[in-house]
Amino acid sequence: VDEDGDGRDSELIARAVELGEQGRRTAPPNPWVGSVIVDERGEVAGVGFHERPGAPHAEAAALAAAGERARNGTAYVTLEPCAHQARTPPCAEALVAAGVRRVVVAVEDPDPRVAGRGLAQLRAAGVDVAVGPGAAAATRSLAPYLHHRRSGRAWCVLKTAMSLDGRTAAPDGSSRWITGPAARADAHRMRAESQAVVVGAGTALTDQPSLTARDFDPPVERQPLRVLLDSRGRVPPTGPLFDPAVAPTLVVTTDAAAPETVDGWRAAGAKVEMVAATQQGVDLDATLDLLGRHDVLQAMVEGGATLHSALLAAGLVDRVVAYVAPKVLGPRALPAFSDSDGDTLADASSWQLISAAPFGDDVRLEYDPEGR
Ligand SMILES: NC(=O)c1ccc[n+]([C@@H]2O[C@H](COP(=O)([O-])OP(=O)(O)OC[C@H]3O[C@@H](n4cnc5c(N)ncnc54)[C@H](OP(=O)(O)O)[C@@H]3O)[C@@H](O)[C@H]2O)c1
Repeated sequence: VDEDGDGRDSELIARAVELGEQGRRTAPPNPWVGSVIVDERGEVAGVGFHERPGAPHAEAAALAAAGERARNGTAYVTLEPCAHQARTPPCAEALVAAGVRRVVVAVEDPDPRVAGRGLAQLRAAGVDVAVGPGAAAATRSLAPYLHHRRSGRAWCVLKTAMSLDGRTAAPDGSSRWITGPAARADAHRMRAESQAVVVGAGTALTDQPSLTARDFDPPVERQPLRVLLDSRGRVPPTGPLFDPAVAPTLVVTTDAAAPETVDGWRAAGAKVEMVAATQQGVDLDATLDLLGRHDVLQAMVEGGATLHSALLAAGLVDRVVAYVAPKVLGPRALPAFSDSDGDTLADASSWQLISAAPFGDDVRLEYDPEGR
């Protein structure tokens, strides 16, 4: 796909992806786009990224940094430039006005307000447009955004911290902490990059979690939404999960929860949303839709075993992140998953390894569903 054939387009998109990642925590629900502008002689003239909603888009920031050097230059951008007037003027127009000769776009924007219009505007103005260089890296970086705009749903990351033998709590119920400080800090980073952290009623009752992103620098400006899936109203509105001073809370429930319980959650400051009931609890499809409507691009599900298995069985997991610690907790300990993929190996689902990284004595394994 590289028009210049020497890989320079992909290289500069990779640089733009890195820049875009700087906005990953703060840009949502907007995409964390990055851009590099190269001048006529092929030298980098300006770089930019989208920092937060309302702030300049990546292309606008890079154009401002490049100034007059953008004329006859090439703009590299991880996502198709926008074509609509939002809080900031359309980027396709700004690129044309700056006299950019060529625009290299890694991925088309599936947002219905853009969806090819940005590329069309550029081409209509006589700009040479290339789409696709560096697409793999950009798609990986922007996966939650792309999924959200295509499906309307939150991108679902299932996170688990387990022993070498796949257990998440010792036989006496103790589970703090299975992994070491480096792995835990990495999990907090992932919370900070998620717009929601989700748990089942079992975990909320047993662990009294606070589900905040903490213990790293710089501290988050906005805590992720804490989401409790409690179809019958088993979790009382007490403890850190229901402290609105800590972070906002959303309870997803069904009409099987008593009205007094729902009132109690609301009185504690939580939002409550009703979805349909299924045999396992709340309708998980409807829950991910609901989170999508709440501007959650990435939902990080943190247990427990029952909820994890229900999500896997429903085919709703977009990524698995497992931290594996060198401890053996034995067969009486709590498993990371409450159910199997099937009784025979041929029925077991396949996952594609995305990365394996050491964190102290622990290892982080990232998997995507096969074929996506
Ligand atoms: N080490 C770790 O990483 C880690 C992380 C989390 C948890 N844990 C451990 O895991 C244990 C809790 O796990 P758990 O399996 O008992 O509970 P869980 O998965 O946290 O919660 C399961 C409950 O969530 C509710 N739920 C609502 N909708 C659901 C749906 N569609 N599918 C599945 N569940 C749904 C159900 O209760 P209702 O029917 O009442 O709605 C269900 O019983 C604790 O001991 C905790 O310490 C360990």
